[in-house]
Amino acid sequence: MSQRKPLVAGNWKMNGNQALLGEIAGSLVSYQGGADVVVCPPFPYLAAARAALPGNVQVGAQNLSDQQDGAFTGEVGAAMLSEVGCGYVIIGHSERRALYGEDDALVAAKFARAQAAGLVPILCVGETLEEREAGNTEAVVCGQLLAVVDAVGIDAFASAVIAYEPVWAIGTGKTASPEQAQDVHATLRATLAEKSPNIASSTRLLYGGSVKADNAALLFSQSDIDGGLIGGASLTADSFLAICQAAK
Ligand code: 13P
Repeated sequence: MSQRKPLVAGNWKMNGNQALLGEIAGSLVSYQGGADVVVCPPFPYLAAARAALPGNVQVGAQNLSDQQDGAFTGEVGAAMLSEVGCGYVIIGHSERRALYGEDDALVAAKFARAQAAGLVPILCVGETLEEREAGNTEAVVCGQLLAVVDAVGIDAFASAVIAYEPVWAIGTGKTASPEQAQDVHATLRATLAEKSPNIASSTRLLYGGSVKADNAALLFSQSDIDGGLIGGASLTADSFLAICQAAK
């Protein structure tokens, strides 16, 4: 039996508005389950999210700057996120890596900034379809993880979450099978265990990629899957609540 508390995070990406926040907040009022729940709307809604969501629901950002403060027009610093009530921040999402050129070094720098401000990073890793078909899944995801471990030290993962998001499953409706996801999660946990068995057994590993209300329970029942990072299905109050309820 795992001692890890499940976690479900909703990543709105660049979607949603004040009305959606109201709907999500309204539906989560009835949530009494055993998972940690995190809602990650775009930056302009973070403070409103903290005010609107029930106290047992956390707020997360989708990105942050690797810099502390200063002349970085358009960037948002970790301390600002913390001050407006964020507890978590997504780091290294595949969309940031692919569309905005974020490399492992930048991802590691953001991870360190987040923790220095008291935020819990949700570090995303994942392979493309091409990488999977070439048999490189393990090398890619472990490489992305170890780049951060090597930069910040394994002990930093005592307060971090890892999300495995196969790029080919994001927004495609093509979910990794529970076995495929479990395989990668077990590999990620074994990679952590080589550095620290304690950190490996306590770190929560989320699966993300076309998680829906009807496939969440089976995915979350795998021994190394500790919850989910939800995109599209977090944009509907009913489906997000159902996914939270599937995490036990
Ligand atoms: P979907 O759930 O829409 O596939 O998105 C997954 C994701 O990228 C969450 O960060």
